[in-house]
Amino acid sequence: MKVAVVTGGSSGIGLAIIKNLHSQGIKAISWDINPPKEDVPYIPCDVTSESAVKAAVSQTVEKFGQPTILINNCGLQFLSPVEEFPIEKWNQLISILLTGTFLCSKHLIPSMKNNGWGRIINVSSIHGKVASPFKAAYVSAKHGVLGLSKVMALELAEHGITVNSICPGFVDTPLMRQQMSKQAELNSMSEDQVAQEIMLKPACIKKFTSTEQVAGMVNYFISDAASTITGEAFSMSGGWGMGQ
Ligand SMILES: NC(=O)c1ccc[n+]([C@@H]2O[C@H](COP(=O)([O-])OP(=O)(O)OC[C@H]3O[C@@H](n4cnc5c(N)ncnc54)[C@H](O)[C@@H]3O)[C@@H](O)[C@H]2O)c1
Repeated sequence: MKVAVVTGGSSGIGLAIIKNLHSQGIKAISWDINPPKEDVPYIPCDVTSESAVKAAVSQTVEKFGQPTILINNCGLQFLSPVEEFPIEKWNQLISILLTGTFLCSKHLIPSMKNNGWGRIINVSSIHGKVASPFKAAYVSAKHGVLGLSKVMALELAEHGITVNSICPGFVDTPLMRQQMSKQAELNSMSEDQVAQEIMLKPACIKKFTSTEQVAGMVNYFISDAASTITGEAFSMSGGWGMGQ
């Protein structure tokens, strides 16, 4: 049975990916700082700490076997104008979103190489390709994830390992709901106005993407149909920015 690690698999998109992988017969484990909201395998891990990531690798191998699939998904958001952006928040977002992706990849690549096959899928964001105001750290980190993915795609192709990214627009999760309320405060609007006039405004399709739809794209990237696809960043954003 294939083993998959999903960072931030205790909530939102990560939890949907875990449930979907289980339905495909893949053992998927959440590495998260918080316990799962549903009954799925879980190993506590703060992805910003190299020693914690190494310990999580050892525990995962011991309990479940060598992982050959890694979904770098965990994350958070913080909104502020650049001139007021606290350095602590900048460092925290870069550490979780970008350094965490680097550390988990670094320490799971050896088990993928041992198996001569691996799949790394990074949940970036449409903000890995475009910018929005008040999201300096998030946009910088998510652009960085796409750069890191390209480097790893080049380094790992000869080992049968592909590295791809998914770039969602807005997906209805606790992270998105918290952001909607902060945007409402920053822009003196209701949450409904924020959804229609800010979040969904650049998209052709005025609907949020579901967590299950993102999980479906993970299925595609791990399938044989995608075995020659690497270094790509696939948008799931309702057609964000098509008119510009
Ligand atoms: N929801 C959206 O609209 C949206 C859009 C584009 C991209 N994304 C990305 O999707 C990913 C998942 O977001 P979500 O909306 O499901 O959020 P979520 O808040 O529901 O889940 C995020 C998970 O990450 C975990 N986490 C936070 N810091 C961690 C750390 N240091 N180590 C390990 N785990 C940690 C949290 O405990 C949580 O379980 C994030 O990378 C986010 O940037 C989300």
